[in-house]
Amino acid sequence: GKKQLLAGKKALVTAGPTYERIDPVRFIGNFSTGKMGIAIAEELAANGAEVTLVLGPSHYSATHKNITTIHVESARQMYDACMAHFDGAEISILAAAVADYRPEEVAPQKIKKQSDTLEVKFTKNPDILASLGAIKKENQLLVGFALETNNEMSNALKKLQNKNADMIVLNSLQDEGAGFGHDTNKITILDRSGSHVTLPLQSKKDAAGAIIKYILETQHVPENN
Ligand code: C5P
Repeated sequence: GKKQLLAGKKALVTAGPTYERIDPVRFIGNFSTGKMGIAIAEELAANGAEVTLVLGPSHYSATHKNITTIHVESARQMYDACMAHFDGAEISILAAAVADYRPEEVAPQKIKKQSDTLEVKFTKNPDILASLGAIKKENQLLVGFALETNNEMSNALKKLQNKNADMIVLNSLQDEGAGFGHDTNKITILDRSGSHVTLPLQSKKDAAGAIIKYILETQHVPENN
């Protein structure tokens, strides 16, 4: 079997989309499946970590016995679950595709078809990665994801700085077979040292393995709290 390099460590992982309710029967969401984050949770657990997986609405689920899944729907629920479980997590990897905005008001009844146009006013959701970055301690490693359509590298580097993360995993949408809905992904890993590595198109399981390997080889994995 695998060496338990993360035995005794606690990890927090977010995965999946968020659904932001418009009325009792409708929501605004995105095409994230949760596969990448679930693969990361599985990989951390396979290395001995005790994992809390905060999972948005997804058809998929984690199976390893060392993974505790907290099911959430909205960004604010995901934020609350992360805040409740961040303390004591030596490694946190935020792979969820969190909605940046939610409808300002949730209609109490189903919205009726009326005029030709409909306006929904949105308000900003909390940024979970930035919030954890702001309260992170010396002994906590924080990893974010980025999905960019242009200026990928410079935007990912800005994200690393602005959100006080230790690493950013950049998903390339330029590549066929990468990203939402696919079983494969092409990623670039950036860290605070300024170095970065681009990996070939590979399965999300292998990409998760590469991310954990990168952490173990290049990052200081904090001692237990
Ligand atoms: O700023 P952007 O949404 O591109 O940043 C992506 C990273 O931030 C991902 O790791 C994502 O999980 C995280 N994020 C978050 N809360 C938000 C928005 C993004 O944790 N509200």
